[in-house]
Order: sequence, then C-alpha cells, then structure tokens
Amino acid sequence: MRSQFVTKTGVIAATVGSAVGLGNIWRFPYEAGVHGGGAFLLLYILCVLMIGVPVMVAEFAIGRGTHSNALGAFRRLAPRSPMRAAAYLGIVASLMILSFYSVVAGWIMEYLWQSTSQLFSDTDPQGYAERFGNFVSDPWRPVMWTLIFLCINFVVLRRGVEKGIERISNILMPILFIILVIFCVNSLMLPKTAEGLEFLFSPDFSQITPSTVIGAMGQAFFSLSLGLTCLMTYGSYFSDDTPLVKSATLTAVLDLLVAVMAGVMIFPAVFSYGVQPEAGPKLVFEILPEIFAQMPGGHVWAVAFFLLLFFASVTSTISMSEISIAFFIEERKVKRSTATLINTAIAVIFGTLCALSFGPLSGMRVFGMSMFDLFDYVTSNIFLPVGGIMISLFAGWVIDRKFISDQITNGGRLPSVWVRPLVFCMRYLAPAAIALIFIYGLV
Ligand code: TRP
Repeated sequence: MRSQFVTKTGVIAATVGSAVGLGNIWRFPYEAGVHGGGAFLLLYILCVLMIGVPVMVAEFAIGRGTHSNALGAFRRLAPRSPMRAAAYLGIVASLMILSFYSVVAGWIMEYLWQSTSQLFSDTDPQGYAERFGNFVSDPWRPVMWTLIFLCINFVVLRRGVEKGIERISNILMPILFIILVIFCVNSLMLPKTAEGLEFLFSPDFSQITPSTVIGAMGQAFFSLSLGLTCLMTYGSYFSDDTPLVKSATLTAVLDLLVAVMAGVMIFPAVFSYGVQPEAGPKLVFEILPEIFAQMPGGHVWAVAFFLLLFFASVTSTISMSEISIAFFIEERKVKRSTATLINTAIAVIFGTLCALSFGPLSGMRVFGMSMFDLFDYVTSNIFLPVGGIMISLFAGWVIDRKFISDQITNGGRLPSVWVRPLVFCMRYLAPAAIALIFIYGLV
C-alpha cells in the first residue's frame, strides 16, 4: 500500500514545510535586493496569487486524483500526452535545485556551528563580509558541509514519508514562525528602519524591467515549490478528504508571509549596516551576523535561528528529493533505499561542483555564470515556469473537466464556487501570464 500523510495538520505542515525554506529567507531578500525592492515585492505577490495558487491546485489535483508518482499520474490521465515531459523536467530540475540548495544549507550549518562558539559577538561590517568571503572560497569547508547536509537528507528520506517528513514539519514550522516575528520586531528598532521598510514596501515602477518580472515569477515558483511536480508528488500522499483549494491558499499565504517577514528582518539591517542591497546570494550571510551581534544574548538567538532554518531546509530538500525517489520506486521498481541513494549520489556530484563555485571553480563559467549561479538561474527562471505552463495546460485542457472539479470539490462534498475560476486560470490565465512574461523577458 502507498503511504499517506496521516493527519490534517500533517498535510499542511508537510506542504508548508516544502514551501518555506531557504527560498523565503535566503533567496527572497537577495532577489528583492537585486531587483530594487518594492516593485519586485508587488510583482512577486501578483505571481503568487494569480499563477501560483492555480498551478498549486492543479498539482494537488493531479497527484491526489491518481495517488501516483508524477510520470505515472500523467500516464494514467492521458497516456500519450506530450505534457508528461513535465515529469522528466521535474526530475532533472529538482536534482539541480537539490545540488545548489544543499550548498546554501551547508552555509547555514557553518553559521550554526560558528554561533555555538559565540563567534558573532562583535560588530564589524567589514569583518563579517570578509569572514563569509573567506569561508565560501575555501576549497574544503563548504564542500564538507554540503556533504554532511546531503547525508542528513538521505537519512530522513530513507525512513519514508509519514515518519520522517510529517513529524519534523509539525513541530518546527510553528516555532520558526514565532522566532521570525521576534526578529522582525527587533529590526524595527534599528537606526535606519524607515529606509529599509521603504525600500521593501514602496514600489518604484521605474525600476521594473524584464529581468524584474522574470525574477519575480521565478521566485514565486521557487518559493512555492511549484512547476516540478513536487507538490503533485506530495498531493499523491493526500487523503481523499484533504481540501485542495484551502490547502493551496493557506500554503501560499503562509509562504508569502514568511518571505515578507524575512524582508522586514533583513532590509532595515541592510541599510543600517551599510551593506549593498544588490549583494546577491551572499546578502543574508553578511547581514544576519550583524543582526545577532547587536541583540542582547545574540549568539543564543543565532543558534536558535540557524537551527530552525536548517530544519526548514531539510523539510524543503526532502520534498524536492521525493520527486525522483517516487519516480525510481514506482517506475523503475527499485527499493526505497536504492532510490534514495541514487538521488543523493547525483546531488553529491553536482553539489560539490556548486560548493566549489565560489572558490577553486569560480573561473569555470557557462553563459558567463558559475555553476552555482547557472543552476539557480536556469531552474527558477526557466524550468519552473515552463513546468508550470505544462502542468496548468494539462490540467486545464487535457484532463477531463469532471476529474478536476471532483478533485476541487472532493467529489461534491465541498462547494463548487472555485471550480470555474480555477479552471479558467489553468486554461488561460496562468499559461498566458507565464508565456507573456517570457516573451517580455526576451525582447
Ligand atoms: N520552496 C522551497 C524553498 O522556498 C524550495 C523547494 C522545495 C522547491 N521543493 C521545491 C523549489 C520544488 C522548486 C521545486 O526553500
């Protein structure tokens, strides 16, 4: 028998656990910083609500309606549809994401390690930036942490869905939420709070360029774990009375909230400590030590924060690993332990290359980007939205309309008001919006 998430809160916690992770706390602030703040936030919110929620419902519906891995789901619903390519795209892209994501999770572990030894107890902007620079360019340490992280990911995954994933998510996500609120309040008392909040919340429309729009869409997909059949795979573990629309909306809202809280925590500090908002992937790693250094009992807060962020990263990486694991188990008939091993082995190879991107391999460039930047850019800004188009077209046009409406209403037990607007979004709005953003980005 296939496993299922056991409890109602387990479903939400697992989905939110997948969505909330480094995407919210590391990637959102760095992307918002690169793309000028407020305008980016606005576009991001629009993408989450108009594209994200319908695509999420589509993924849930396909997964829950078939209780199968992504490829099996596409095959069962429409054996010959070319849209099943989305399942293969999902496997490849999720392994790429796992590779660079594990590197950043490794940085978090280094910081956790450093904060237990009270290293963040002096305020010295130059010092922190330099310390981070030295660390990421080291030929060993980042690789070591990446590998340790992947081992932990492996151990949790091998235990299987309901025991590993559900239990961790249920306990830790709420704690992370509360602690973020505390950090936000703390950031509201910094010297340049007003400047930081203005950067984040007041949109300057002259800042909007094609790359801002593409970046906002990519961030929305990344942060919601969409486009790669990740939530389709989780949907396949939902029970028949899980309300799909409600779960999708709640996930999107909570995910958005965490990203905004991360912004409120980071940007006042960015301005107060004179760091450039466009610093890129290193942004939060230069800022967080500053934040902790000025808080009373800073290193205790730092330990708590990095520990929770580490767990939030694990609940995200297990969700993206589950895409290929479910595929290998059900389509290639291997044991769970073998499937998990294949997944980890691939990530070890590419993760190592990504981890070295800031040091020994920084000269290795493809399209002018390091391995790390390339994986990050290509997956979020191209593969995820392309997967999203395919999934929503599949749900809107290829599958029987009755199947979708049955899934949305749980076979008629829930109100049907959402069926029409959601099907409309899956058919027209989401694919058209994604396509338009691409075309706008190209010209
Ligand atoms: N959403 C996660 C985060 O914000 C990352 C993630 C998990 C993901 N599963 C995914 C991204 C699947 C894309 C596809 O950290």
